[in-house]
Amino acid sequence: PNAPILNSFPNTDVLVESLAAFTIKAQKESLDKKGRFTVALSGGSLPKMLRGLIDNPAVKWDKWQVFYVDERVVPHDHPDSNHLACTTHLFSQVPIPAENIHPIDASLLNDLEELSDAYEKELIREFAQKDSARFPIFDLILLGMGPDGHTASLFPGHELLTEEDRWIAYLEDSPKPPPKRITFTYPVINHASRVVFVAAGKEKVDTLSGVLDRPEEGLPSARVKPAFPGQLYWFVDDAAAEKTGSV
Ligand code: 6PG
Repeated sequence: PNAPILNSFPNTDVLVESLAAFTIKAQKESLDKKGRFTVALSGGSLPKMLRGLIDNPAVKWDKWQVFYVDERVVPHDHPDSNHLACTTHLFSQVPIPAENIHPIDASLLNDLEELSDAYEKELIREFAQKDSARFPIFDLILLGMGPDGHTASLFPGHELLTEEDRWIAYLEDSPKPPPKRITFTYPVINHASRVVFVAAGKEKVDTLSGVLDRPEEGLPSARVKPAFPGQLYWFVDDAAAEKTGSV
């Protein structure tokens, strides 16, 4: 794989602005190539970090197809829902057509296997016919990193770290509540054209140094290694990057 590209910023506002500019460039490259822009979003603070896209005339919202990297198995209006967070902080404030947003099927919350199969089919509808590849090739996947080094709903030591076949997996034992979630697997993340981690704040300083400087420790975030020609980027603030040798 290509070496990760690390971008560190003095504060969140500059990070937000630069992330918006990066996203718009990725959008342009994707639209020039195929007229669509496929994006996967995470929860946590990520939806708020996309505020630089609001009121930005360069964003072609009608060309976006948005999926969720992971989702908690809760109704769409539940406070734990990543879809709710993205709707609140982003989609409710921009002209994106509702059919371009792909949340989990809330009628299947009682059957995790059906729920994750249905979400995999939702991805297949977008990707499979257009692409003979075995895994979807997202134009952009945006990830966060937890203080324990998890990303998506891929947690340290969990059996899903070695999943090689499924596109979407489910878990009922997330160490971080809520316990029931579905998540992209590594093959999906690692086939994307661009994967971006966004991590800010001094609580991330030791984890970030572990992931970037000691990848052999195998923290979940260190296992994100997009296959060539895919590229991994980090958008971090100086507080998070302080102990990182690679800066
Ligand atoms: C979850 C959280 C989690 C979060 C990371 C990073 O699924 O339990 O949403 O995955 O994204 O902990 O959080 P921040 O981006 O808020 O630091």
